[in-house]
Amino acid sequence: MTERAAFPLFPHRHLLGVKDLSPSDIELLLDRADEAVAISRQSEKKTSTLRGRTQINLFYEASTRTQSSFELAGKRLGADVMNMSVSSSSVKKGETLIDTAMTLNAMRPDILIIRHASAGAAALLAQKVGCSVVNAGDGAHEHPTQALLDALTIRRARGKIARLTVAICGDVRHSRVARSNILLLNALGARVRVVAPSTLLPAGIGEMGVEVFTTMKEGLAGADVVMMLRLQRERMEGAFVPSVREYFRYFGLDAEKLKAAKDDALVMHPGPMNRGVEIASEIADGPQSVIQEQVEMGVAVRMAVMEALLDPRRNPEGQAA
Ligand code: MLT
Repeated sequence: MTERAAFPLFPHRHLLGVKDLSPSDIELLLDRADEAVAISRQSEKKTSTLRGRTQINLFYEASTRTQSSFELAGKRLGADVMNMSVSSSSVKKGETLIDTAMTLNAMRPDILIIRHASAGAAALLAQKVGCSVVNAGDGAHEHPTQALLDALTIRRARGKIARLTVAICGDVRHSRVARSNILLLNALGARVRVVAPSTLLPAGIGEMGVEVFTTMKEGLAGADVVMMLRLQRERMEGAFVPSVREYFRYFGLDAEKLKAAKDDALVMHPGPMNRGVEIASEIADGPQSVIQEQVEMGVAVRMAVMEALLDPRRNPEGQAA
């Protein structure tokens, strides 16, 4: 781990969105994450990079994999990790996000990981607190560590990202995962497609540097990577799809639809999956699926991000020392 200091200094104090990252920032995080994968595969997983540092996870939305992934990442780096359970905190008594954040800030954490239902919540917090902030998902806006872990999974499986054709399929409209992935994959030179019924495409998608398709057959044709999205029913006000059955028939990934992609196309899903809604079980558990690898890469990417943000070469105010 000591040789990790040889990586260039990451030029940001917070990770709020992929939109703030240059291609070299992204490559730097992916390179660091590759090392973190090796550490996680050792029997002795604990390192001391963040020993003495305090990490607080503040999750206002339900999460299994993202929260546990940040927790494990912090622990593997030797940090003291605290999970704020919003359901049993003063938030239930009506405390505002900023008041909660200021209270936690007064306890002098080094890094705050936040998930919130409102777009912009992480950026707002970053202006108020004295520590680093990581956006673990803000509404339908961004989920930068998800896009990074997806990129790491693809890069490790294919050796590159540039010029691969990636089809992002399903509920693009409500998905922060789609948004962060579009930004990141474009930054690294992939050819990005989105595939969805027109009701599940956000306004202005054509300006995001993607090709837009409304059938799986056309959208998946020759794709190297097929990335499925969860139907985000909790964010839908009204009916965006006629019925779940109908949705699966036209947009759910099954063996027949997958035939349109390359024979060895990778199948991805950020989880949690709705089996039989956006993806058939035989595909989710099949030989082309890298869904479990994505989970493994999640811990590594979060280790890389936290280490990069809390680089000891930076002073506590976040400036290069
Ligand atoms: C998210 O938090 O956005 C998840 O990782 C993906 C999902 O909820 O569908």
